[in-house]
Amino acid sequence: MSRSAHPAGPRHADVLPEGHYSGPAADLNELDPKVWAQTVTRDDDANGVVTVGGIDVKTLAERHGTPAYVLDEDDFRQRARAWRTAFGHDADVFYAGKAFLSRAVVRWLHEEGLNLDVCSGGELATALSAGMPADRIAFHGNNKSVSEITRAIEAGVGRIVLDSFQEIVRVAHIAQSLGKRQPVQIRITVGVEAHTHEFIATAHEDQKFGIPLAGGQAAEAVRRALQLDGLEVIGIHSHIGSQIFDMSGFEVAAHRVVGLLKDIRDEHGVELPEIDLGGGLGIAYTSDDDPREPHEIAKALTEIVTRECDSAKLRTPRISVEPGRAIVGPTAFTLYEVGTIKPLDGLRTYVSVDGGMSDNIRTALYDAEYSVALVSRRSDAEPMLARVVGKHCESGDIVVKDAFLPGDLAPGDLIAVPATGAYCRSMASNYNHVLRPPVVAVKDGESRVIVRRETEEDLLRLDVG
Ligand code: LLP
Repeated sequence: MSRSAHPAGPRHADVLPEGHYSGPAADLNELDPKVWAQTVTRDDDANGVVTVGGIDVKTLAERHGTPAYVLDEDDFRQRARAWRTAFGHDADVFYAGKAFLSRAVVRWLHEEGLNLDVCSGGELATALSAGMPADRIAFHGNNKSVSEITRAIEAGVGRIVLDSFQEIVRVAHIAQSLGKRQPVQIRITVGVEAHTHEFIATAHEDQKFGIPLAGGQAAEAVRRALQLDGLEVIGIHSHIGSQIFDMSGFEVAAHRVVGLLKDIRDEHGVELPEIDLGGGLGIAYTSDDDPREPHEIAKALTEIVTRECDSAKLRTPRISVEPGRAIVGPTAFTLYEVGTIKPLDGLRTYVSVDGGMSDNIRTALYDAEYSVALVSRRSDAEPMLARVVGKHCESGDIVVKDAFLPGDLAPGDLIAVPATGAYCRSMASNYNHVLRPPVVAVKDGESRVIVRRETEEDLLRLDVG
C-alpha cells in the first residue's frame, strides 16, 4: 500500500492525552544504544534501513517473516562474558534460563563459562540436551515434582535450591533412595521490599517463594536439612525480585543472609561455603532507564558480602548470582509489520502489528514500558503519538502504550520494539491460536533460526480431537 493511502493521523498534539510519555525524541531516526542490541545501526546509504548483525531488517523479514524475535549473538556473548569476567573465578554466574532458553543459548553460555539456573523439567531437559554439564546447573522452583527432582538428582545437578519444609524432606528422601547426597541451598525470604512491580518482587514475606527468615523459620529449615543424610547443605539463597536498579535491597539482603550464616556457625559449628544473591538487575527498556554495568554490580555485591562477613568474623563464602534479563534482555528486538493505522482525533493513533500480547505479555501484565522505532526506512515526518497494539481479541492487547512514531507511518512498514530478549518468547502464548514467532540469531551477516516459528500443524498436533 502506498504511503499516501492512509490519513497521517493527529500530529504531536498541543495537549497530550494522559500517559507515560516524555515527549518525542529530537530525531525519531536515532536508535539509543542503551535500549538496542550492540550491532544495531541505521544504514543511511540504504534509505535508513536498520541493520543488526550485519543484516538489514527487510532481508530478515523476507527470509523469516514477521513477527520475529531477532537476537544479536555477539551482543549476547559479550554480555554473558562481561558478567563472567566481572565476577571472576571466585564467584559463579548462573544465567537464569527462565528469561529465555534454547539449545543455542545453552551452548553459548557453556562456551562463555557461565552456569545455568533452571526451574522446571522442561528447562532442565533443554539444558542437558544441549550439553550443559549437570554439575553447572542449579535447579529452582517452589513446587518441583517428584519426577523433576528425581531426574535432576539422577542427572547430577550441581545444586537444588530448596524452597519449603516439605521439599527439604522430599529431596533428602529421593537422594537417599538413589544412594546420593545432593548439594542444596536453602532459599530464604529476607523481608526486603524491592522497588519493582508487585508480581516480580520476591523477598517480602507475604508471597510463595522461599522460607521466611522472620520468626526463625529459615534457621529451623537449616536445622532440619543439616540432619538429613541425603542432603549436603552448601549455602543460602536469596532473590529479591526483578528489574531492580537500586542496590540497597541487595545490601539489606546480604546483611540478613550473612546474619543467618553467623547464627548457623554459632549453633552448628558449620560455616556454609556459598551464598547466592539471585538475579533481578534492571535493564533499559526506554531511554529513561539507567542500568548498572556488571563490573559495578560485581564490585558492590562482593564488597557488601565481604564487609558483612568480616564484621561477623566469618570466612567469605563463594558468591553466586543469577542474572537473566540483564544478559538476554537487551540482545533482542521484536520485528513487526504494520498492518493497520487508526488515528483517533485528539487522542492518539493506534498502530496494529502482526503480533501482540501473545509474543509480549509484559505490557499487559506488568505495565511494562517499551520503546519502538520505524526500522525499514528513515523518516523525517512529524512525530505522531502512537499506541502499538496487537491483533488479539482483547483491548488490553498493547505492546507499547505510549510512543512517538513518524506521522507518515504506513501499512507494510517494519517497526521494531527493542529489549524484548527476556521474558517475551519465554512467556509467549497461543492466545487466539496466533502462532508463536521464531527466534532468529544474527551474527556476521548471517541469520539462523534458533527457535522456529510455530505452525498450524504444531497447533493441530496437540489437539487430538
Ligand atoms: N533467580 C531466581 C531465583 C529468579 O526467580 C529469577 C527470576 C531470576 C534469578 C532472574 O531474574 P532476572 O535477572 O531475569 O530479573 N516474568 C517477569 C520476571 C519474572 C522473574 C522470575 N524470577 C518479567 O517479565 O519481568
